[in-house]
Amino acid sequence: MEPKRKVILTGDRPTGPLHLGHYTGALASRVRLQSQYRTYILIADLQALTDNTEHPEVVARAVWDVLLDNLAVGLDPEQVTFVLQSSVPELAELAQLYLNLVTLARLKRNPTVKAEMRQKGYLANVPAGFLCYPVSQAADITGFGADLVPVGEDQLPVVEQTREIVRRFNALYGETLVMPEAITPATGARLPGTDGSSKMGASLGNAINLSDRPEVVREKVMKMYTDPTRKRATDPGHVEGNPVFDYLDAFDPDQDGVADLKAAYRAGRIGDVSVKERLTDTLLKFLEPIRERRIRLEQGRRELREILLSGTAEGRQVVTRTLCKALAAVGLPSAAGAQAPSLAEVL
Ligand code: TRP
Repeated sequence: MEPKRKVILTGDRPTGPLHLGHYTGALASRVRLQSQYRTYILIADLQALTDNTEHPEVVARAVWDVLLDNLAVGLDPEQVTFVLQSSVPELAELAQLYLNLVTLARLKRNPTVKAEMRQKGYLANVPAGFLCYPVSQAADITGFGADLVPVGEDQLPVVEQTREIVRRFNALYGETLVMPEAITPATGARLPGTDGSSKMGASLGNAINLSDRPEVVREKVMKMYTDPTRKRATDPGHVEGNPVFDYLDAFDPDQDGVADLKAAYRAGRIGDVSVKERLTDTLLKFLEPIRERRIRLEQGRRELREILLSGTAEGRQVVTRTLCKALAAVGLPSAAGAQAPSLAEVL
């Protein structure tokens, strides 16, 4: 018999179209791992709502963007299962069980939560739903029985908190939940923003989206931050900390050419504009097939809906099984018929 394939669960917060940073940080490895692991990709719309509470329409729209972007970069719906979080209410029930296993103080200390609270300026008025999102994420991860959780470095504390919950649950109620492990992209996978800040983010206004039209890509590249110390093209330029070169490192298949370009830049033999021209060409070559696939997929609305519908139905079965096990382990008497409503009504 074939050994059981290990399970990967990963997720995206649908807040808008995905960008190049998502590609280098997450999507590229998803594509690479999809045939090796049983992969579930959660479109975490409930989690997205924890910081878009006043703009649910943004989240609803972005569900389709996230699905399209994942498919357009090469995730194969025959291999991976896309699941819409809000249509799996059993996840919320698992989260409810886990809420008793963490303290408020621990949640407030979570470095990811702390950083995001600071970024959003919540101070003391943090919504409970936001503060507790790592618990809901623990439900996502354990609900699917994930062995591996590919995430960006910024999400490591969230997976660590999941591991604590699993340890606590299994110690209290008996070995029930699978202990997950995070996998993070290799160093250098984090792409800086077009403004040179350390992270590309849609909300930071410094992102190049996978679905950006060519003229938009060109414009964003031409406006990119380069080397502020350089006044003229004949001044020696800095390659380190210059995002234009970070992007060339990540996307240009001709790395020898990039090395020559860096040498010329350092020696003051080449101007910003020429380097940016090359980057524009490189990005367009990379992005055009993705964008074409996306446009084609977008026309097949029925198929898209079907991918999400059938994936969610399958995912829901997996999570329901975990929830039943967890409730049985806790030892609460069950009076549920375990009858799930038809998904077609929900989506
Ligand atoms: N919090 C993740 C992010 O912001 C998204 C996410 C939701 C996730 N549920 C998950 C990631 C489960 C991994 C596993 O990127």
